[in-house]
Amino acid sequence: MTIKIAIDGPAGAGKSTVAKKLANLLNFTYIDTGAMYRAITYKVIKEGIDLKEEDKIAEIAKNSSITLEGEKIFLDGKDVSYEIRRPEVSEKVSYVSKIKKVREILVEKQRAIAEGKNVVMDGRDIATVVLPDAQFKFFLTASLAERAKRRYNELKSKNLQIDYLKVLEDIKNRDKMDSQRKESPLKHTDESIVIDTTYLSEQQVLDKLYNIVKEGLKGDI
Ligand code: CDP
Ligand code: CDP
Repeated sequence: MTIKIAIDGPAGAGKSTVAKKLANLLNFTYIDTGAMYRAITYKVIKEGIDLKEEDKIAEIAKNSSITLEGEKIFLDGKDVSYEIRRPEVSEKVSYVSKIKKVREILVEKQRAIAEGKNVVMDGRDIATVVLPDAQFKFFLTASLAERAKRRYNELKSKNLQIDYLKVLEDIKNRDKMDSQRKESPLKHTDESIVIDTTYLSEQQVLDKLYNIVKEGLKGDI
């Protein structure tokens, strides 16, 4: 039997930071599904495709090779880990991720990557759609202001965005689109453990998740 850990939540809640560390601690594979939607969006922008051309975008999702290696993401063999974090990708990604066919293609890829492995997977629909049988389902949240502050600091340290209000606006728009879309909207399941991280440090969140998993596996790890 393999262990699947799902971590969902809105932008900037700390999912990927904690998911990566938890995967390291447990020696599990980390799968960043948001990076996959970002990679397709990056290609759509690069090829100058209009966001309304949903069939063309789905073709791109179908015909692109996406591979994850640790924290890196490769699109058609090229490392695009830096490019996919650019603000123009963040601005458009929710328009790409709401397309039903794109989701079907990426969900299939995500399940294939997770097959036969112990994984920590983070995203928006992991517990609800991608891995509904996951043994652990976490939903991380934090106030909008706190999430925007976190993302602003992160982007600034990578020289990617300097305007706090733009970051706030982006997160607000994406939250709205991601939670209100028809296909696999952002939400938690009845079994999800919801954790508000607004006043918690990264370490505190990690400890909470690790202890719950350790307890759940009763000494198997
Ligand atoms: O890191 P951040 O929270 O900014 O976003 P992300 O996890 O990189 O995801 C980028 C976008 O991809 C989200 O705003 C969603 O529109 C979409 N996404 C999704 O629809 N389903 C997922 N499982 C993961 C991401
Ligand atoms: O994946 P998601 O969009 O949910 O968030 P992230 O990409 O992990 O970004 C969260 C940022 O907030 C990172 O720069 C973390 O260092 C920081 N942070 C956190 O993740 N958790 C806390 N409890 C506090 C800060």
